[in-house]
Amino acid sequence: MSSSNKVTLIEKVTNFSGKYWKEILFGTVVVITVGAGVVYLNKSNTKSTKKSKKPSEKLSATNDKPRDTQNLSETEIKELARTAKNMGNKLFGENKFDEAIQLYTEAIQLSPEAVYFNNRAACEARLKNWSKVISDCTEALNRDPMYIKALLRRATAYEHKNEFKESLNDYSALCVLEEFKNTTSMASADRVLKNLGTKIAAELIKDKVERLPSDTFISASSELADFLTIPEVSEADGIFKKAIMNIMKQKYEEAKSNVDKSIELGNLSKDFEAFAYNLRGTFLFLVGNVDKAMVAFEKSIELDPTQVDSYIKKACLYMEKGDTETCQKEFEAASKIKDDNVDFYYHRGQIKHLIGELADAMADFSKSLLYDPNLVYAKIQLGVTQYKSGQIQAANETFKEAEILFSNRSEVFNYQGEIYLDQGDDVKALESFDKAIQLNPNSSLPYINKALLYLQARNDAATAEKLLKKAIEIDPYGDVAFGPLAQLYLTQNRVAEAREVYDKSIAAARTENELVTAVCSREAALAQ
Ligand SMILES: *[C@@H]1O[C@H](CO)[C@@H](O)[C@H](O)[C@H]1NC(C)=O
Ligand SMILES: *[C@@H]1O[C@H](CO)[C@@H](O)[C@H](O)[C@H]1NC(C)=O
Ligand SMILES: *[C@@H]1O[C@H](CO)[C@@H](O)[C@H](O)[C@H]1NC(C)=O
Ligand SMILES: *[C@@H]1O[C@H](CO)[C@@H](O)[C@H](O)[C@H]1NC(C)=O
Ligand SMILES: *[C@@H]1O[C@H](CO)[C@@H](O)[C@H](O)[C@H]1NC(C)=O
Ligand SMILES: *[C@@H]1O[C@H](CO)[C@@H](O)[C@H](O)[C@H]1NC(C)=O
Ligand SMILES: *[C@@H]1O[C@H](CO)[C@@H](O)[C@H](O)[C@H]1NC(C)=O
Repeated sequence: MSSSNKVTLIEKVTNFSGKYWKEILFGTVVVITVGAGVVYLNKSNTKSTKKSKKPSEKLSATNDKPRDTQNLSETEIKELARTAKNMGNKLFGENKFDEAIQLYTEAIQLSPEAVYFNNRAACEARLKNWSKVISDCTEALNRDPMYIKALLRRATAYEHKNEFKESLNDYSALCVLEEFKNTTSMASADRVLKNLGTKIAAELIKDKVERLPSDTFISASSELADFLTIPEVSEADGIFKKAIMNIMKQKYEEAKSNVDKSIELGNLSKDFEAFAYNLRGTFLFLVGNVDKAMVAFEKSIELDPTQVDSYIKKACLYMEKGDTETCQKEFEAASKIKDDNVDFYYHRGQIKHLIGELADAMADFSKSLLYDPNLVYAKIQLGVTQYKSGQIQAANETFKEAEILFSNRSEVFNYQGEIYLDQGDDVKALESFDKAIQLNPNSSLPYINKALLYLQARNDAATAEKLLKKAIEIDPYGDVAFGPLAQLYLTQNRVAEAREVYDKSIAAARTENELVTAVCSREAALAQ
């Protein structure tokens, strides 16, 4: 649990300019599944010990034994059943499934044992009769809850029927029984989980209102202010200038509708038009509408082929779509137009970081800092990347420099604290988080990190819970605090509260990706 949270948090640093995080977030789903499995283990243990105390528990249900066995002894009847099963097995081997089913049915009538149901289910699976597979496996599992083959077969049958929730429950149980040693089963659980998440998310997304992320950050560079000096000749130009001013005031929702309005009016001046489409694309990207954003950036490039920023953002969209190759090509295209700017190196650094080319990422962050030494996020990401690539001392030094250069920036201390915490220095980490909170009490991340510190280093769940609740209060739409709080509840067996938190996180999810992830987390954690 703790390690998956840490990954998400450290990665979160590159998150503010857009959420192309699918891969990483999904990477953590496997871990969440494992966590869920542990919860299951507790439950299933109690179940199975109850059962195994009475292994010879008499099973009801069968008065339909054929007459001619009435006078046979119990042993003789069992022997007959075994003979029928063996014949069934032979027929199964000859792919004569219908006949094999008949023999297993006879065996079941003689002596309703788990293995006969399971074998009959195997035949039904070959005939793709999934409902029968499920009912027979259920019979088998009623008699032997630890029956791995029956569990796997039922999981598969549910999956074939697109009953993902049930399938996930069985795969989770399977992972537990196999003690998480079978990677195939774990991969299956992950696959079903994603299908389940996608299915539920597709329903939920219909009712979602588009919303910008709470940590929206658009760099209000001096170039932005330059637009205000260009004379306006149409109504649309005036509205576009309002958009620029709203961005500078960090009123992004207003800015977003200004931009759309100015484009809709249809008479923006050439001076504004290409950049208006760039901004439209940026906002669409931020609300998670990748396809429409792509169209906007293409239009922007069509209107002004020198719009480097539109190439860069197009590249980020390809990253979001998981198309690393085209992403890199877009960067090449951008570099041919103009690569002597801070945005180019900063964003390429982010991409390199994401695809794990850490050395290149560090080079790009350093270069972006040459163009703009005041870019606090480039400095932070340089430090984080150094840390991730094992250059611990360099990372420490980068953050020490950042502390001096950006002494009033909360983010610096937040990520510095993460790095200290990861090194096991919880005293220094706590200092950093407190400083981050002091500098910006409105940011939820330092509270979340402080909570993790109390959980990991101080074993103080009560304080952690308070801090996580505070983080959610500060940022009800943030997507980072929900997971740890829900998992904290789960470890304390407070399942109803955990469910409530997961439901909140689903309500807070903005984009389809976030929604799928939130749903997956809930379903994985609550799978039983
Ligand atoms: C079973 O045994 C009873 C009494 O021993 C006998 O009357 C009956 O005919 C037997 N039934 C069969 C099917 O052999
Ligand atoms: C599945 O099993 C049911 C019940 O035995 C049977 O009626 C049906 O024909 C079977 N379907 C297939 C495709 O074998
Ligand atoms: C692992 O699980 C898969 C299916 O999930 C199964 O086919 C395979 O036999 C299992 N391997 C081991 C070593 O148990
Ligand atoms: C711009 O377009 C709008 C609506 O199409 C129109 O009302 C307005 O007069 C136009 N303004 C200029 C300056 O062309
Ligand atoms: C980095 O700084 C932390 C906090 O001061 C310290 O505990 C750690 O030993 C330092 N690591 C290195 C490699 O300098
Ligand atoms: C941080 O300090 C700089 C320079 O000292 C100042 O311009 C800026 O307004 C400060 N920012 C905040 C958030 O206090
Ligand atoms: C925190 O938020 C409150 C209310 O939204 C605002 O008045 C205050 O200026 C913010 N403080 C900082 C440091 O951003």
